[in-house]
Amino acid sequence: MKELFTKHLNNHLPNIKSFHPFFNEALTSMLKAGGKHFRAQLLLGVVEAKNPKLLPDALDAALALEFIHTYSLIHDDLPAMDNADFRRNLKTLHKTYDEATAILVGDALNTEAFLLLSRLKLKDSIKINLIQTLAFNAGINGMIIGQAIDCFFENKKLNLEELKFLHIHKTAKLIAASLKMGCEICELNSQETEQIYNIGLKLGLIFQINDDIIDVIMNEKESGKPSKSDINKNSFVNLLGLEQAILHKEKLIEECKNNLQILDKNLTKTLFNLITQYLQ
Ligand code: IPE
Ligand code: IPE
Ligand code: MG
Ligand code: MG
Ligand code: MG
Repeated sequence: MKELFTKHLNNHLPNIKSFHPFFNEALTSMLKAGGKHFRAQLLLGVVEAKNPKLLPDALDAALALEFIHTYSLIHDDLPAMDNADFRRNLKTLHKTYDEATAILVGDALNTEAFLLLSRLKLKDSIKINLIQTLAFNAGINGMIIGQAIDCFFENKKLNLEELKFLHIHKTAKLIAASLKMGCEICELNSQETEQIYNIGLKLGLIFQINDDIIDVIMNEKESGKPSKSDINKNSFVNLLGLEQAILHKEKLIEECKNNLQILDKNLTKTLFNLITQYLQ
């Protein structure tokens, strides 16, 4: 699935022809740099398990997710936020070009995502659901309030409940939305969709706890981004210590794997594999 998506991404990069000397190159460089494509794989995993005939139509929806996610990283790395010098093993856009370019590439990927969804070859009612789910979870009810809390509370210690709120919003909601969008494409009933979304919230919390762990245990070559950069952040490692953070992650993975058993076999297997590959 990753190969199929990567090929689709590289064949459908955003493109703007103008006399700007480098904007188009900046627009595509972070997408071309790759990444795990975890969110795209979640959406496509649901569609593959539930109605594989729809995979060709789902690829652009997965692309919209990857655009939103990549925009969030470009803005997250800006000097006003995490001030990171590299990402996906490349220099960050504000380092290669300038801050205005990085801000505008982020803005462009955000808006392009919704343009893509509006143009899918699916029923209008499905497209409206997809647009709402992405806007809700990537917007103020999800990632944006999470990122706002993350930045405001640097150097101000949150408690465990507050930290969970932060991680659920900045990261887990978009991950849960990825699964939900797969459900919406396949027109699953609302009960099953909600079950899958709730599993996605847990999976997303695990994903961000793992990212907090990556910051201290991986070097920069392995992660492709600065390490030991969460010193002033509210992270699971800073709150609980590395050992307890790892134990907490493992406990949540066990719970998540148990929750997965209620899903159909194909989907359980796909999600098990993604957990094993990226989170353990
Ligand atoms: C990094 O996301 C930011 C978080 C939400 C933890 P990923 O770890 O998915 O980054 P890429 O896409 O693989 O580069
Ligand atoms: C970022 O979290 C989450 C986003 C919504 C972009 P981090 O700041 O921990 O992500 P990395 O470690 O820079 O990838
Ligand atoms: Mg951040
Ligand atoms: Mg960051
Ligand atoms: Mg991080």
